[in-house]
Amino acid sequence: MTKSPLLASSLITLSVSLLLATNGIAAEEYDAKTYGPKTPIVWTTPIKATFDHPTHTMDAGLDCTSCHDDIFSMQRGTAVNTHKFTMAAMAEGEFCGTCHDGDTAFATDTNCLACHSVSEEPIVWEEPTKSSFSHTSHVEDMGLACNDCHSGIFEMKKGAATATDNFTMAAFKEGKYCGACHNGDDAFDAMTQCDSCHVPPTEKIVFNEPVKTVVFDHDIHVGKAKLACESCHKEVFTMKKGNLAGEELVQSDDPAEKRKYLEALHSKFCGTCHDSSQAFGYLTRCTVCHIGVKGYDKMQSGDKKSDGHGKSGH
Ligand code: HEC
Ligand code: HEC
Ligand code: HEC
Ligand code: HEC
Ligand code: HEC
Ligand code: HEC
Ligand code: HEC
Ligand code: HEC
Ligand code: HEC
Repeated sequence: MTKSPLLASSLITLSVSLLLATNGIAAEEYDAKTYGPKTPIVWTTPIKATFDHPTHTMDAGLDCTSCHDDIFSMQRGTAVNTHKFTMAAMAEGEFCGTCHDGDTAFATDTNCLACHSVSEEPIVWEEPTKSSFSHTSHVEDMGLACNDCHSGIFEMKKGAATATDNFTMAAFKEGKYCGACHNGDDAFDAMTQCDSCHVPPTEKIVFNEPVKTVVFDHDIHVGKAKLACESCHKEVFTMKKGNLAGEELVQSDDPAEKRKYLEALHSKFCGTCHDSSQAFGYLTRCTVCHIGVKGYDKMQSGDKKSDGHGKSGH
């Protein structure tokens, strides 16, 4: 053998296509009367399932009458329209379950992937924050069975977990949902490597409260400074916009009180790093963060409550 397998297979492909091109009969060799419709029948509701005529007629040698019309009518959609086309009915020997009982053919409580396929598209949740989950990596790469998740941990319905209001990191920590496996034993701990499941926002975050305008850019911090999400999102910031804005404001007019408050505010958030050690100090370069002119005015006046100063416009 001197030919590469690649070359050999492309020669075969070539000769087959030549055969098809010169001999029209080859393409029509499949006889739908003998074997049933060639294209698979695909159901999409409530979930995606596929039935293939040729594997049942050509390969398994079944006659049309072994299914038509006692088990299935020769009209696509009939079974679904009965509203009884379920796994429970199949387990009782109806529909596909007439043969797929573990005797005549493999049972319907096994091998889910033979009839069902999972979407390549990841499931993406937008609420309460954005995250995603890949069926294909869990089922195909990690070899998990549907029932590892779909008998108690998750419903087979996108949004079901969200609807419980308990689809949170705190619940994961107690071993619920993703945390049933992502506990550091069965799979990596969900309290680490946040970026495996979450994506940082691409838009800059603009704080307009209490002073305009502080800009925070994930790209600088995650991309350029290579900080892990958890360096900020463990204790300092919850992964939700508006958390910082919700901080209680100080009402005092006493300058010393105010200074103390400002120091506390800055050192609690951005200042945990921007303290001249890990990053530029917040006391040194106010305007790198406070890019808003209005905010800058307020800072200079040192009186955010006074309207008069801010609007003087000199
Ligand atoms: C193992 C079971 C099985 C066998 C054997 C079988 N079919 Fe079917 N057939 C089905 C199912 C399931 C459907 C879809 C019914 C539904 O959606 O309710 C179907 C649907 C059809 C349809 C309708 C397709 C459409 O697009 O509406 C035709 C035509 C058909 N079969 C022809 C045949 C012929 C011809 C044979 C024998 C050569 C055959 N079938 C053998 C299970 C079978
Ligand atoms: C009349 C009996 C019968 C019915 C009804 C039937 N099957 Fe099958 N099916 C078989 C047999 C026999 C095989 C081949 C033996 C095996 O794989 O266990 C088979 C094999 C299969 C395979 C494996 C094909 C492969 O590539 O190896 C799938 C998938 C399948 N059936 C799906 C279905 C679905 C979906 C339905 C219902 C819409 C259905 N079958 C209804 C008898 C049946
Ligand atoms: C022999 C083929 C076959 C096998 C094996 C199979 N299913 Fe199904 N399943 C179907 C068909 C056909 C339907 C009805 C059409 C649809 O909903 O797509 C269905 C419907 C369903 C539904 C929606 C209706 C319902 O019963 O709630 C779920 C959920 C489901 N299957 C889960 C599973 C799981 C989990 C497994 C493995 C434990 C499995 N199926 C194995 C063919 C199969
Ligand atoms: C590692 C866990 C896991 C495994 C394994 C798994 N799933 Fe899922 N599945 C999920 C999660 C999470 C959801 C979304 C549930 C939610 O949003 O509440 C889901 C949702 C679904 C949905 C609904 C999708 C939609 O858009 O509404 C279907 C269908 C489904 N799974 C089928 C399967 C099948 C079939 C298998 C086996 C081949 C499987 N799953 C294996 C975790 C899993
Ligand atoms: C039934 C157990 C199980 C559940 C439940 C589960 N996972 Fe996983 N997951 C695994 C295993 C096993 C791995 C591979 C081992 C590892 O990476 O630690 C994995 C790996 C991953 C990965 C890395 C591989 C990839 O896809 O990029 C991500 C991300 C992930 N899981 C997200 C989730 C999310 C989100 C949920 C909840 C919606 C979830 N998992 C629920 C078992 C599970
Ligand atoms: C294994 C995947 C996974 C990992 C790792 C992960 N999360 Fe989550 N997280 C999710 C899923 C799934 C949800 C629920 C749906 C949603 O809000 O996107 C969620 C929700 C959240 C929420 C909103 C709900 C709540 O608990 O307040 C926050 C905030 C959050 N994650 C932060 C983090 C942080 C910070 C890390 C790292 C320390 C992290 N996550 C690691 C999957 C993960
Ligand atoms: C240097 C600190 C820092 C790092 C590192 C960081 N973030 Fe953030 N993140 C923030 C701040 C600040 C906010 C806004 C919080 C607020 O408004 O209270 C935020 C908000 C978010 C939000 C909510 C956005 C919205 O529009 O509601 C998400 C999602 C998020 N971060 C994800 C991530 C992910 C994923 C990573 C890691 C890849 C990451 N962050 C790394 C500081 C950081
Ligand atoms: C976990 C540490 C950490 C936190 C918390 C943090 N930063 Fe940073 N930041 C850095 C590092 C590291 C750099 C890059 C080094 C430098 O510029 O000093 C940086 C750079 C910046 C820059 C770019 C400076 C330039 O020269 O372009 C701005 C602006 C900035 N941060 C604003 C903020 C704001 C606003 C917050 C609070 C919402 C914040 N940072 C919170 C670590 C952090
Ligand atoms: C690392 C980024 C950063 C630097 C540097 C920084 N700040 Fe801030 N500052 C913030 C953030 C974030 C807020 C809260 C969000 C907002 O008000 O927009 C804030 C809020 C404030 C407020 C409003 C507090 C309130 O409750 O009324 C004042 C006043 C202020 N900063 C003054 C200053 C002064 C003066 C400097 C320079 C000595 C400075 N900041 C440097 C990030 C920074």
